[in-house]
Amino acid sequence: MSTIILGIESSCDDTSAAVIEDCILRSNVIASQKVHEAYGGVVPELASRAHQQNIVPVVSEAIRQAGIDKSQINAIAFTRGPGLPGSLHVGTAFAKGLALALGIPLVDVNHLHGHTLSHFIKEDEHTQVPGFPYLCLLISGGNSQIIKVNAPGDMQVLGQTIDDAAGEAFDKCAKSMGLPYPGGPIIDRLAHEGNPNHFKFAHPHVDGYNYSFSGLKTSFLYTLRDQLKLNPNFVEENKADLAAGLQKTIIEILMDKFSKAIADTGIKTIAIGGGVSANSGVREAVQQYADRHHLKAFIPKRSFTTDNAAMIAVAGYFKYLDHQYCDITLPPFARVTI
Ligand code: KG4
Repeated sequence: MSTIILGIESSCDDTSAAVIEDCILRSNVIASQKVHEAYGGVVPELASRAHQQNIVPVVSEAIRQAGIDKSQINAIAFTRGPGLPGSLHVGTAFAKGLALALGIPLVDVNHLHGHTLSHFIKEDEHTQVPGFPYLCLLISGGNSQIIKVNAPGDMQVLGQTIDDAAGEAFDKCAKSMGLPYPGGPIIDRLAHEGNPNHFKFAHPHVDGYNYSFSGLKTSFLYTLRDQLKLNPNFVEENKADLAAGLQKTIIEILMDKFSKAIADTGIKTIAIGGGVSANSGVREAVQQYADRHHLKAFIPKRSFTTDNAAMIAVAGYFKYLDHQYCDITLPPFARVTI
């Protein structure tokens, strides 16, 4: 008999619900919140209010699109953290209420495990999934980590950022160019038309497999500040080259440590996940590295790189099989690591 999991994700500014049947995706509904665009970043209070408005229609639509009756759901998996407290509370409270009403188990999921296990979302029974262990480069607005995934519930962080995340480097540098939030996807688009070697930015010197992006951010800001003194139209005239140079430097920083970890561990299966793994340059660099070194690379579909409930349902599926249910009294965790 198959196992049907309803996943609920509300950690930041996307309300999402998904239904999977033994990891095969039956529905994945995402309501993105446009309300934050005017503020240049996510406003926590507005995010939790929008989640409250969205959660019932989003969950109903996910169940409808999956073509199931709610009595067929075996368990509910929800994002317990990390994330914005007010946002997490909405998904957590809703998941608890529905699990109680249906009399089914509740499974709490670490959002970062969701990104790392997003490669197990199957479009159909032929979708290939990674074997264990694999090395995952998890890059998002809040995290930059190299994770050794030994099993769905056994993950080891080999390296992580000591300051900003890769997504923050994209977004903060984009903001200093006057681009709207989130700047990452805009930099990606602009970089296609620019010369990546016109401007040079700082590379960090950090121990082990750890990352640092604050030096790059400062070096980018100083370039703008110095050049704007000479030419007030500097940014406008050099947008594409600045974007291409910034993206190239971020990719070099990411690949430098990721390739060291791959070589040192000898692991032959690699993966990327998180919002920044949507970046076309990052995807190309990882695939090219894998081809050169005869590795198997798992690059997620773009729709599974950003926050989505399908990855939460899949991570919850593995815990459900292991009977790792959670207590109805558990609070959400704003800060939690892998
Ligand atoms: O994983 P995510 O949706 O949110 C977090 O949980 O942090 O990642 C959002 C981050 C933002 O920093 C956004 O700028 C970045 O992912 N991002 C990109 C691209 N698409 C999203 N960065 C670079 N290139 C992209 N194409």
